[in-house]
Amino acid sequence: MTLPPRSTLLTTPRLTLRPSDGGDAARAFEIRSDPAVSRMLSLARFPPDRGETADWFADHAREWAKGLAFRFAIARHDRMIGLIDLDDVSVDGREAEIGVWLEQACWGRGYAGEAARAVVDWAFGPLGLTRIRAGHAQDNAGSARLVQALGFRHVGDVAVPSRSRGEDVLQRRYVLHRS
Ligand SMILES: CC(C)(COP(=O)(O)OP(=O)(O)OC[C@H]1O[C@@H](n2cnc3c(N)ncnc32)[C@H](O)[C@@H]1OP(=O)(O)O)[C@@H](O)C(=O)NCCC(=O)NCCS
Repeated sequence: MTLPPRSTLLTTPRLTLRPSDGGDAARAFEIRSDPAVSRMLSLARFPPDRGETADWFADHAREWAKGLAFRFAIARHDRMIGLIDLDDVSVDGREAEIGVWLEQACWGRGYAGEAARAVVDWAFGPLGLTRIRAGHAQDNAGSARLVQALGFRHVGDVAVPSRSRGEDVLQRRYVLHRS
């Protein structure tokens, strides 16, 4: 894997994706304070913790520099509307997990698909990944449609603890290979 510069900027017709940092924590806290967003994210605490969110975002530059995770703030007209990331990068740098969340006011307009296509192209292009994993809670119809529209293949279901729901949820798992 070629470590990309922090100046990496991905643009789509309507969105700008830029590496996220500590300055995005307050907006992320606001977006994740919506239970409809957090309940779909297995690792999200609900209600979110301001300090924990700040610490996490402050760490994004280090994660990037170490090749551990590549996280982008999704911006529309200079306002952050969500986050899309590739994390859990494998030791050989060939594989990672994609995740995305948007503020609810922006759902249903094709933004996630637009952002995800840009990140997948970047991941299989300049970043050099050969395989991307994805997963969503069984009751997440939007995410199911999104991964299928991107061409991910369903490979199985696993029970995972959901921090936001306080119980296990069945997660549907997918992979996408570089063609
Ligand atoms: C999942 C999420 C990212 C989708 O974002 P979005 O911008 O609304 O998605 P898009 O508008 O790009 O839609 C992608 C596809 O899903 C479909 N879709 C979106 N929401 C849907 C819903 N609630 N039910 C069924 N289909 C839906 C769209 O029609 C589109 O399908 P198409 O490509 O065939 O037209 C957004 O709902 C979200 O942030 N949810 C909370 C967090 C979350 O679930 N993250 C993913 C965790 S795995």
